[in-house]
Amino acid sequence: MWRLLAVFLVLVGLLGAARDTVLFDTDSGLFGDDGAALVMLLRSPAQVAVQAISIVPGNVWAPQGAEYMFHILSLLKRAQTTVAMGADGPLIHTAAMARESERRWGALSYIGAFAQDAAAVIPAPGSKLSARKPRHDAVNLLISEIERHPGEVTILALGPMTNIALALRLKPEIETKIKRIVFMGGNIRVAGNASNAAEFNFWFDPEAARIVLRSRIPLKTMFGLDICNLARIRKPEFDQIAAVRTPLTELFREDLGNRYPAFLKKPDATGYLWDSLAAAYLLDPDFVTRSESRYLDVQTSWGQFYGSTVPLDRRVAPEATPVTVMFALDFKRVFALYKDRLTRLD
Ligand code: RIB
Ligand code: CA
Repeated sequence: MWRLLAVFLVLVGLLGAARDTVLFDTDSGLFGDDGAALVMLLRSPAQVAVQAISIVPGNVWAPQGAEYMFHILSLLKRAQTTVAMGADGPLIHTAAMARESERRWGALSYIGAFAQDAAAVIPAPGSKLSARKPRHDAVNLLISEIERHPGEVTILALGPMTNIALALRLKPEIETKIKRIVFMGGNIRVAGNASNAAEFNFWFDPEAARIVLRSRIPLKTMFGLDICNLARIRKPEFDQIAAVRTPLTELFREDLGNRYPAFLKKPDATGYLWDSLAAAYLLDPDFVTRSESRYLDVQTSWGQFYGSTVPLDRRVAPEATPVTVMFALDFKRVFALYKDRLTRLD
């Protein structure tokens, strides 16, 4: 009996030790790639413990992002998960700058929250506004969670890096206490998707991304557009998930079907796994088939290249750690994981 109990306790200990302690930083819209990333992690409790969700402006402003997160959490029956908003906007970049950029240098492909009213918060379609209210201390929450679990925390950064940069500036000593940051953002050999030069998360807050890339965080893992462009979903993949009818797949269907990329209106549209790819890496890192280590920086001079990913001049940030940039993947393998988690019946 005692021996059995000891074995059980060892197993529980091993399982606990193997679980990733994750801080989930997101600019979630209604569902999209951020929402799918959250579902994948919350449906993988043996591998990942999501300590808290911090909301950053990006796709939408933070109060709207929090509302959408509450809706997804309620569908997942995880209403107790902490949700905190942090920054109200990027460090420097503004909607006025984006408008003026378009006047001077031509149309931008996507400007996210800059095209929206910061005061408007709407419920998810078919729902009422959530009764839950987010906390307003995301930056301090990031700091305290990292200090509570030194060397153990994975930050999964799925939007602009504003909250994370503020935390690093407020408490620089946390840099080396973070286990790793896995982020979706940036582009190296391929064109951008906000401007021609820059990927959206880096473009929305270039100064924040620069602070993170120049930091001493021990491991930085980048899912930029180079690998994300290889993880496309089209109507047949969309249909496989939408065909399984659950409240969660209904939300997936509504968002990817009628909004972006609107598969139900434009059957030839293309969507991308983006943030879901970064989340999948926490569950099955072996789907990545090629990566390279680089010292990277972000262009912060305002102009056509604002927010683009550039090589780091190491003389200006001698303590910066390198970034592992993901370049190639086994799509079948990662899509199977995505589909499995999204279509579970719970
Ligand atoms: O460039 C893609 C990124 O921008 C994703 O994180 C998407 O959710 C948006 O934030
Ligand atoms: Ca995102």
